[in-house]
Amino acid sequence: MSALRSLDEDIQEVLFDEAALQRRVRELAAELERDYAGLRPLLVGMLRGSVYFLSDLSRALRIPHEIDFMAIAAYGTRHAATGAVRLLKDLDEEITDRHVVLVEDIVDTGLTAAYLTRLLRARRPASLVICTLLDKRVRRIAPNLPLAYVGFEVPDRFVVGYGLDYRQLYRNLPYIGVLRDELLSPGGPP
Ligand code: PRP
Repeated sequence: MSALRSLDEDIQEVLFDEAALQRRVRELAAELERDYAGLRPLLVGMLRGSVYFLSDLSRALRIPHEIDFMAIAAYGTRHAATGAVRLLKDLDEEITDRHVVLVEDIVDTGLTAAYLTRLLRARRPASLVICTLLDKRVRRIAPNLPLAYVGFEVPDRFVVGYGLDYRQLYRNLPYIGVLRDELLSPGGPP
């Protein structure tokens, strides 16, 4: 790989450009402002993918709120049907009696969000909802996973950018696009 190669060259199609993403983030923030006025919600971001979305959402949100982060790792293959995961980093804040908004970049199988919902609910928050930028509904395995706030529904394609990675790259793209197929092959990417 050339050090000067642009990551943009690896994208075959842009699904949501920067303007569309920022517009949708502002709309979601407006919904949250209405729903959480006076409640000082805690936005919980899942490392690492949600960092870009969460920081833009937080900046757009003009009501008092806090942010915190969690990190988990899957046992074995990430999409193993068990959804078994290991907690790598827990919240710094107590969430009992707090209004918690779990912020995700994408809900795919839904196993991650289902696991986190169970984990956080056990701590008796005043409320707990999921806010995801992308919903890849067609791949859902977890049953009955309510998504209170959704930015966009996405088709079953390999999307990167705005937090979403392929082998830890492409997160910094300001848009969401589909990675060129040949890069997904084993000999693949950078
Ligand atoms: C992604 C994303 C969600 C999860 C969704 O995280 O940020 O947390 O996958 O997938 P699921 O609905 O099938 O469980 P990933 O494990 O890729 O880590 P990352 O956030 O560091 O990119």
